[in-house]
Amino acid sequence: MNDHPHGNSALFTPSRRSFVEGTTVIAGAAALGLASPSVFGQTPRIRMDIVTFAQDPTRLANFEAAVQEMKDRSAADENDPRGWLAVANDHRDFCAISTGNASQIHYCYWFLAWHRAFISVTERKIRAISGDDSFSYPYWNWSSDRHIPQAFARSGSSLSNAVRYTPSRGLQDDEVDYNPDDPVLRALGVAALSARRFQATTPARISRSFGGIARPNSFGAYGNNRLEGTPHGPVHVYVGGVSDEGDPGDMTDFTTAARDPIFFAHHGNLDRLWEAWRQDPARRATEPTSNTFLNHRFVFTWIDGAPIEVSVSDVLDTTNLGYAYDSLDVFRTAPVAGPMASAESASTRPPAIGRQTLRVPLQPEAAPDESARKILEITDVEAPTQPMTVSVFVKPADAPADELGTSIGAFSAIRSGGQIAWPTQTLTFDITAAAKKYAGEQITVQLIPQPIRPQGAAPETYPQLKFGQMRIVTEGAGGHQ
Ligand code: C2O
Repeated sequence: MNDHPHGNSALFTPSRRSFVEGTTVIAGAAALGLASPSVFGQTPRIRMDIVTFAQDPTRLANFEAAVQEMKDRSAADENDPRGWLAVANDHRDFCAISTGNASQIHYCYWFLAWHRAFISVTERKIRAISGDDSFSYPYWNWSSDRHIPQAFARSGSSLSNAVRYTPSRGLQDDEVDYNPDDPVLRALGVAALSARRFQATTPARISRSFGGIARPNSFGAYGNNRLEGTPHGPVHVYVGGVSDEGDPGDMTDFTTAARDPIFFAHHGNLDRLWEAWRQDPARRATEPTSNTFLNHRFVFTWIDGAPIEVSVSDVLDTTNLGYAYDSLDVFRTAPVAGPMASAESASTRPPAIGRQTLRVPLQPEAAPDESARKILEITDVEAPTQPMTVSVFVKPADAPADELGTSIGAFSAIRSGGQIAWPTQTLTFDITAAAKKYAGEQITVQLIPQPIRPQGAAPETYPQLKFGQMRIVTEGAGGHQ
């Protein structure tokens, strides 16, 4: 953090002049500090944890004032390109559209790159509007902070001014993808970091890949990559929640998600996890190198209304975008002791929406491969009809009915353009630790929703989830994912 260029505005004069003159700003590889003015600069700024960021009251006040100004502009003219709504609508236009639409940047390998570019463009806008050249959008470390951080929650702040029906409970371990019961996954902090490959080459591997499947692809299949499924989805649904009347909060619907300033802090943390994943050269080496991937261009709107283009190759190295994170550790300090699932009683949970009893295969006797993972697959899942987050619990088949057992993961259903976004038919969960514990035994897998309404008073009920079957498969060791 020592090289954080506080107040060194001279470095940024060229690009600021371009805002004034209304020049169309193109960020291509050639424009990265080499050619015409670019929104992308090379002097690194540090993206901070919001808790650290908020320790400087002036820095926080400048951020709040800029977002307030942008919101005021949108209130006066919803088409104002300097307005906050214009920012949010860039997300709507690429996310709240149909799954198969060629511009859709969810459910495929554009997901991480597009959101990285989107955060960068947005922080550049805030920099230009606030005049604070040192600004970088802070991230929300929800592994450590299980409630909405104070800076995004203070009433009257432009950073909390959004439609939220956040439940009063904090985020649970499975919603932030922390699995304390499995030694390998626990060590990673966020279990999605276990994904070994970026690109999925078959539909079945999408939910175990870190980056997703190519678009278009010969299977015509899309789906959430490992990180995009969970923790990405459940944190969206937690923040937005659902009102007692059944209306989704901003973050619960892709149409409105980016209206909530916490959107960028949530995606900042996901972006940070991508960086943590890239620290492993073997994992990073699986990022696609095809021109189809690298030369793909995303278009955003600059504050003068001009389009800005950013290519995937522009964003793979964050130093090209002029930022780095203050830390790549998953937890700020030690892991939080999350609420123990087994101590939680079924009475605090909505009724199960799905259940199956199955036999856990015996572990291979000879030379068990330690890196092989056991995966629970739920096949042919039909789209839920309302937003939800669901925990997947396992317990011995003869355990008492009101016992929840151990959570092995969670999934969520988010709204998008008036319906539930559900690109995936197969859900997968890493069940390795439980499969070892219950090898050869009968277990019951239960799908039990998390409460997502504000008061938690009225019991929530959800329709049964329709699916084909649950089965346990062994994932190739050292191999595909
Ligand atoms: Cu484009 Cu978290 O959404």
